[in-house]
Amino acid sequence: MTLATPLISRKSGPLTGTTKIPGDKSISHRSLMFGALAEGETMISGLLEGEDVMNTAAAMRALGARIIDDSDGLWRVQGIGIGNLKEPTDILDMGNSGTSTRLLLGICASHELNAIFTGDKSLIKRPMKRVMEPLTRMGAQFLSRDGGRLPLAIKGTAAAKGIEYTLPVASAQVKSAILLAGLNAQGTTTVIERHATRDHSENMLRHFGVDVDIAKAPEGEAISVRGGAKLLGCAVDVPGDPSSGAFPAVAACIVPDSAIRLQRICVNPRRDGIYKTLKEMGADITYVKVETDAGEPVTDIVIRYNGALKGIDVPPERVPSMIDEFPVLAMAAACANGVTRMTNLAELRIKESDRLKMIADGLIACGVKLEMDEDSLTVYGNGKPPRGGALIETALDHRIAMSFLVLGLVSDEPLQIDDGAPIRTSFPNFIKLMNECGGMIEAAEPKAA
Ligand code: S3P
Repeated sequence: MTLATPLISRKSGPLTGTTKIPGDKSISHRSLMFGALAEGETMISGLLEGEDVMNTAAAMRALGARIIDDSDGLWRVQGIGIGNLKEPTDILDMGNSGTSTRLLLGICASHELNAIFTGDKSLIKRPMKRVMEPLTRMGAQFLSRDGGRLPLAIKGTAAAKGIEYTLPVASAQVKSAILLAGLNAQGTTTVIERHATRDHSENMLRHFGVDVDIAKAPEGEAISVRGGAKLLGCAVDVPGDPSSGAFPAVAACIVPDSAIRLQRICVNPRRDGIYKTLKEMGADITYVKVETDAGEPVTDIVIRYNGALKGIDVPPERVPSMIDEFPVLAMAAACANGVTRMTNLAELRIKESDRLKMIADGLIACGVKLEMDEDSLTVYGNGKPPRGGALIETALDHRIAMSFLVLGLVSDEPLQIDDGAPIRTSFPNFIKLMNECGGMIEAAEPKAA
């Protein structure tokens, strides 16, 4: 058991400087997984060295790949080729990482092996049925706890069959799990998505030499791969994570006189909804020069404080492109002038925590007026930072932890969070980076709620 790390954040001066955000988590997971499935060597630079991605690396090693961390920040993956994964000798502990678990279940589903997956207290509550159901149709077998929860066992098969599957929820993890199983299944596997979700699997599979067919379908977009696919080892330069960049970006939007530059951020249009939304709220945000690198648009982003933000209605169709950013957007909304309405948020309830509840509980404790129902959140801002002064429960959720620490940089009274340890899963140098820009975040004495 790891000890809780209480943290406190205090009213800060302007945030300034140029800073490098760690590598994108989604692309980092996939670079290790695809590298392991490839033939030959994959060289990864800019890999996010957070706990979630390290859990993926450990799992790929347990499945037979050789992964070497060269001390100069370069990771080398010696792939073993699709179909050649070996049965892990021990339980795969995925820690806090839903992406690792769901994508790996897809990979294991079309390999002749048995594997057992488990995770931390947050991950074992999260639903796996959404991948178990389509993967069962392809031929895999599962034994799980009630409700499709971890720990679970999967029995994969080398005789998996391609399926056509329309996603019942907008989920890149489910889409990716099915496509990855399809790489070693018989025939064609097609996933139809009604709402566009992040397309890093599609982009990166192409980068590794796989034919990914994307066509218009009556219900949306049909993405297909054929079985017997071959991935070829290649170079991957992981861009900065737009989800991690959103924390200093929102901080610069709410702390007066801030001006920061985030280097080389991935601004894939299926990921950058938070930046579009902040701009609509009146933020001064510039994409300096967008360039395409391995299929991903990348740019430096400059954010300058531009006075109080204004409340808006966030378009519901934009939700998948900023699904992880609602906790930090809610902090911006709490400081904005007017009402911010966020709808279509049911998926937030099954992330690392019930994020809707954690956001609402925390903001209410800070003196913010809001309304919440099953899948929406309305925040009433008055153009001034909230009182703060609360102890925030974070429920093993890195993004809840970082969001409230950002709010503490402007709230009247310091904000304390019960546990900052999960920040290591996605943004290991968060506190250092924020403080180097002028933030005031530090370790706190444990305090009773
Ligand atoms: C991810 C997809 C999203 C996102 C998660 C990473 C991915 O999850 O919330 O942080 O890398 O595919 P869902 O597919 O469950 O929406």
